Amino acid sequence: MIAIRDVSVSFGGVRALNNLTVSLSDTVVGIIGPNGAGKTTLLNVFSGFVAPASGSIKAFGTDLLAMRPHQRARWGLRRSFQTEQVVDDLTVADNVRAMLDSLSLPSRADKEAQIGKALAFVRLSDKADEMGAALNTFERRMLELARTLVGSPKIVLLDEPGAGLREEEVAALREAILGIDEQFGAMILLIDHDVEMIAATCVSTVVLDFGQLLVVGPTADILKDDRVKAAYLGIEEVE
Ligand SMILES: Nc1ncnc2c1ncn2[C@@H]1O[C@H](COP(=O)(O)OP(=O)(O)OP(=O)(O)O)[C@@H](O)[C@H]1O
Ligand SMILES: [Mg+2]
Repeated sequence: MIAIRDVSVSFGGVRALNNLTVSLSDTVVGIIGPNGAGKTTLLNVFSGFVAPASGSIKAFGTDLLAMRPHQRARWGLRRSFQTEQVVDDLTVADNVRAMLDSLSLPSRADKEAQIGKALAFVRLSDKADEMGAALNTFERRMLELARTLVGSPKIVLLDEPGAGLREEEVAALREAILGIDEQFGAMILLIDHDVEMIAATCVSTVVLDFGQLLVVGPTADILKDDRVKAAYLGIEEVE
């Protein structure tokens, strides 16, 4: 359970988030809204890239904003980025290991087991020893997902993970996202412009508009909401 209270962020004259208050409790929660609505800014507040002018975020009883970014990562906060992060001249396994090295985990055996499990989950076990540079766009995206799944994640933040992928690749990504809670026990916050992706994976969905909460609720209801259709062009395609 995550309680976001009165979170505000300004960039000069732009109110990227404006007194956002919302509680999230489902295992996969969607975050949608038009370009510039404040979705990425919200994830940046979670991870510590952006310090809000005011407000608090309590995640499973822990005051997230009271922790420094690396403490949040150790606590179990993970994220993917809108821009790609794979390191070309590290092997696939080392790309995952680099994430784990920044956290303190008990033993080397535990580390290797977690790397193996994450790579198997995203179906990259057979490429573990290849260089990052050898991966195609889809594999790179899945490797980034694997990086978020090591070190006992509690919350995984995904910013448009399906952007630029082909239909069958998005389907595979969708299946993976649906398995994260069961396999890794983490709650997922998913930003995506692909409404079908949101509909297929997110139990509930938050709609942001101009930095404010437009509406929150079960995804099926949200996607039928007239206010959402009005704010979020293109949503009419989904029935
Ligand atoms: N570092 C920054 N400096 C100045 N303005 C920023 C910065 N980051 C975001 N903004 C502004 O804050 C607002 C919210 O941006 P944000 O990136 O959170 O939107 P978004 O919902 O993720 O949009 P998109 O769907 O295009 O990714 C926008 O007006 C954006 O231009
Ligand atoms: Mg964004």
